[in-house]
Amino acid sequence: MLQPNTIAIIKSTVPVLEVHGTAITSRFYQQLFANHPELLNIFNHANQKQGRQQTALANAVYAAAVHIDRLEAILPAVKQIAHKHRSLGVQAKHYPIVGQHLLGAIKDVLGDAATDEILGAWGEAYGVIADAFIGVEAEMYAAAEKQEGGWAGFKPFKIARKQAESSVMTSFYLEPEDGSRPASFAPGQYISVKLTVPGETYTHIRQYSLSGEPGQDAYRITVKREGGGEGQPDGVVSNYLHEQLNVGDIVELSAPAGDFTLAASDASGPVALISAGSGITPMIGMLHQLKRQGRPAVFLHSSPNSEEHAFRDEVRQLAESGSGIEVRYAYTRPTEADRAAGDSAAHLGRIDEAWLRAALPQDVADCYICGPAEFIKHVYRSLKSMNVPPERIHYEFFGPAASVDGE
Ligand SMILES: Cc1cc2nc3c(=O)[nH]c(=O)nc-3n(C[C@H](O)[C@H](O)[C@H](O)COP(=O)(O)OP(=O)(O)OC[C@H]3O[C@@H](n4cnc5c(N)ncnc54)[C@H](O)[C@@H]3O)c2cc1C
Ligand code: HEM
Repeated sequence: MLQPNTIAIIKSTVPVLEVHGTAITSRFYQQLFANHPELLNIFNHANQKQGRQQTALANAVYAAAVHIDRLEAILPAVKQIAHKHRSLGVQAKHYPIVGQHLLGAIKDVLGDAATDEILGAWGEAYGVIADAFIGVEAEMYAAAEKQEGGWAGFKPFKIARKQAESSVMTSFYLEPEDGSRPASFAPGQYISVKLTVPGETYTHIRQYSLSGEPGQDAYRITVKREGGGEGQPDGVVSNYLHEQLNVGDIVELSAPAGDFTLAASDASGPVALISAGSGITPMIGMLHQLKRQGRPAVFLHSSPNSEEHAFRDEVRQLAESGSGIEVRYAYTRPTEADRAAGDSAAHLGRIDEAWLRAALPQDVADCYICGPAEFIKHVYRSLKSMNVPPERIHYEFFGPAASVDGE
């Protein structure tokens, strides 16, 4: 247990650290990777280059520090991060390394202002926070391994089938190489794929939502090919999967993880699944689940146009065979053919608040959002202004978590 004066020092110094946040985290990662280049095998280099991860890790440490005397208050946030850590293979032995470099970076950036007292307090607090993560992750590793068909770490899977779902998205059906049946999962969860790309020094790990149903011989993931755009390199893993890997090739997977899953609900209204682009993937598994449960649903999806629109047939079949599944689409960059088809096939434009108000019933139950970060923020704010209670709005970022309420 931390002493009251240690807690007081931590709380009084968080604002100072936040002011120097970027400098501290940049220094932290620079030194971390210089001294432990093996960690480049698990960190996402693109997130590093774009600065997204820097903010996420440091902010989480500061947020935990503010709640240091009642860490249980932030347990849901700890669990969400721990799911990601577990799926990446983060281990207890990594925590002292991260702690040592975080403290070193604080010292380097704050200079004389970082007194021994302040550094001592932060060392202690980091230990408490790290222990909380290590404990939660140990339980998650044990649960992943103990479940039927489960495993710890990464396990080889064979690509059994590869199927184009749109001009930019391809499904991969992945079966355990050892012939076993893969562990079950809750729709909305993801796996991590670990790849060794020829010519690259380090392995690359990326998360992909499970777009299929549990209880099958194979997992299905659906990957969007990420083109680089002006001055940016193409996405490493998505392009390698699309262009270089074929049926019979092996990829390594960690066991299903994540907390973006359908909540038990006593509300009778329909569940809303609201996605854009590749964010459709977790929604497909959830839609299958809602259909099995006989629960009504509203499925809203935004795609650039009909050519990039994945799973249109699968969703139509579900809607036709299930009871109470409403489907609506929006195309933001419609093709000539989409324009000719007009609003009957899809709303031509973005998903905005006015459209959501028209598409969602008054008694909507829980809402699930997935897509680009700006899309999630926009839909979240619209739902809030429509008086959907925040605890009924669930979302998943396809990258380091960000704030939905902030700028
Ligand atoms: C929980 C979760 C679930 C996910 N589920 C899915 C899913 O179901 N389907 C799916 O397609 N994706 C999903 N993703 C996203 C996926 O994990 C990858 O992030 C995505 O496939 C891109 O990986 P990549 O290796 O191709 O691109 P990366 O190499 O990681 O690059 C990502 C982007 O950064 C840009 N970039 C790279 N380097 C630089 C640089 N130096 N400067 C500027 N820009 C740069 C690239 O152009 C690219 O647009 C999910 C992510 C999470 C966290
Ligand atoms: C108490 C200490 C730690 C905190 C508070 C923390 C916090 C976070 C947060 C907030 C994220 C982003 C989660 C998301 O994607 O939504 C993250 C991701 C990640 N963390 Fe940690 N973390 C800690 C320790 C560690 C350690 C010890 C390692 C291992 C070296 C590690 C490796 C990673 C990796 C690889 C990612 C994914 C980042 C990416 O590649 O984009 N973390 N962590």
